[in-house]
Amino acid sequence: MKKIAIGSDHGGYQLKEVLKKYLVDLGHNVEDYGTFDEKSCDYPDFAKLVALAVAEKKSEIGILVCGSGVGVTVTANKIPGIRACLCHDTFSARQGVEDDDMNVLCLGGRVIGSELAKDLVNAFINAKFSNLERHKRRLNKVLDLDKVKYSVN
Ligand code: RB5
Repeated sequence: MKKIAIGSDHGGYQLKEVLKKYLVDLGHNVEDYGTFDEKSCDYPDFAKLVALAVAEKKSEIGILVCGSGVGVTVTANKIPGIRACLCHDTFSARQGVEDDDMNVLCLGGRVIGSELAKDLVNAFINAKFSNLERHKRRLNKVLDLDKVKYSVN
C-alpha cells in the first residue's frame, strides 16, 4: 500500500473525490491537500502542496486534477524532484513510471470519465521504475537540470 498525496482545483474536485474514495477503499493512505469544495480557486495553490509533499517525501507519489490537467502539470513540474505528467492513456500512465520515473499523475476532470481515471490511477500506482541502465542515464540527465539555476533573457 502506498502513501499518496492528492489535490485538485474546482475543475478537478469531483474526480479528485471519486479517486480519493477509490484509493482509500483499496487500502492506500491518501493525504488530501484540497480543494475541499467546488468554489472557484487557483490550481497552482493545490498543485504546489501536492508537489512539495512528494518532493519532501511526505508521500511516495501524487495525483493532481484540474479541468484540463494542464495547469497542475505545469505547476507541479516547477518543484525540483517532481516529474509530473498529464496521461489520459494507460500506456503512458504505466510507461511514464517504468521509463521516466514519473512521480505525479495529472488528470483532466473535464476531459475524462471516472472509470478511465481509475484505470489510469491503477496503471500509475502499480508501475515501478525499471532501473534499466539507459533509463537511469536519461533520468540522471533530467535530475541534473534540477541542480542548475538557468537564467533566461
Ligand atoms: C479552471 O477553470 C481551469 O482553467 C483549470 O481547472 C485547468 O483546466 C487549468 O489548466
